[in-house]
Amino acid sequence: MPATCVVGLQWGDEAKGKIVDLLSDDHDFVVRYNGGANAGHTIVWGDRTFKLSLLPTGILKPHVQSVIGNGLVVYPPRFREEVDQLKSAGIAVGKNLAISDHAHVIFPYHMEEERVAENAGDGGAIGTTGRGIGPCYQDKVGRRFAIRIGELLDKSHLLDRLKYIVPYKNRMLAAMAEGGTTVPKQFDPAALADEYAGYGEMLRPHVTNTMQLLHEAIQAGKKLLYEAAQGSLLDVDHGSYPYVTSSSSLPSGIWTGSGVSSRTLTRIIGIVKAYTSRVGRGPFPTELNDGPDGLGERIRRIGREYGTVTGRPRRTGWLDLVALRYTVALADVDECTLMLLDVLSGLPELKLCTAYDLDGERISHFPSDAATLERCKPMYETMSCWTDDITGCRKPSDLPAAARRYVDRVAELLGKPISMVSVGPDRAQTLMMP
Ligand code: IMP
Repeated sequence: MPATCVVGLQWGDEAKGKIVDLLSDDHDFVVRYNGGANAGHTIVWGDRTFKLSLLPTGILKPHVQSVIGNGLVVYPPRFREEVDQLKSAGIAVGKNLAISDHAHVIFPYHMEEERVAENAGDGGAIGTTGRGIGPCYQDKVGRRFAIRIGELLDKSHLLDRLKYIVPYKNRMLAAMAEGGTTVPKQFDPAALADEYAGYGEMLRPHVTNTMQLLHEAIQAGKKLLYEAAQGSLLDVDHGSYPYVTSSSSLPSGIWTGSGVSSRTLTRIIGIVKAYTSRVGRGPFPTELNDGPDGLGERIRRIGREYGTVTGRPRRTGWLDLVALRYTVALADVDECTLMLLDVLSGLPELKLCTAYDLDGERISHFPSDAATLERCKPMYETMSCWTDDITGCRKPSDLPAAARRYVDRVAELLGKPISMVSVGPDRAQTLMMP
């Protein structure tokens, strides 16, 4: 049966939520397989806007079974917050939301660990979202100090685990902060066990073996849609390391993060924003660092490029086809969508980065390690822009000729068809390309 994956091909915030929302009409399951509440998915339905960080976008559709797979790291208070928000907006959340008993749990000491490390002032900051993602994945891989969702359901077991873990965390936090100005918080195992056993009860109706659920769904001929969080350039293995997130955001994460073979995928859609943005630190060759009156700021303002999770202003720049060709290959996409094209309307000209100058040599491959990427200078081809507002376009032939040329040129450089073009946040502002 068909299974689709929607994956961002840049540094996140490519407007994946809009495409997942559109496609979920035609799917039975929407599955998240990586990350946690560091993601920010904004969905606009007319005058209603939903912002989801942890829950799959499918939760907005009553016919969809939403799944939080084993590959996620879950902060239960955020889960409760999102569920409450949805319920107060009249969206039903019950058996239609399943959460893996194998997903890992974020505790406040993870956030504290991240806060102390990020504020150490030693030059090692990643510029994270501060949601405890990295420290929780560290514990998952380290095994001794990790707690999975299923363990929240047995309070005495949970207390035993926290009595083992928390004293170590307290000592570690104190040592991390030694000599600095930050005073780290300390935690009490019994209080945490009480609090998290309460979350366990809240989660209990949703907790299940999601791997089995998904395998049964496939057997029953259901259509699955995988929703990647973050972007391919933030993938822990293949992104611009170390300025990446701690999970596998590429479709390769599906197999480990949901327990379903990637061989079931029949359609991989790469989501591309018509320009580039990035939050947090790390090299960004096509960044427009041109001051408060420059094009970078204009794109930020018109594209509302501020983090959904943290509110941080996003860095903005031209479309980088060197990076995109790399992620198109890694994600093995069948087709791409071009998002936020309307944000470029009225610019004096458009630039597409087609190669880098690395120490005087022209290269067309993407060096994913941060130190080399830092030395890359973009080499551009220039295109003319359109002056008209394109937010009212509803079909490809409504686009001005220059916009159509931009779309066609991007598709040519990507080596993949562009199947949808988005000219605004609303569902109606989506052009299905021939
Ligand atoms: P973390 O995922 O919070 O550990 O942050 C690591 C890096 O990934 C930082 O540069 C974040 O800004 C970035 N990041 C994490 N999640 C997202 C996202 O959903 N969109 C864009 N950037 C993200």
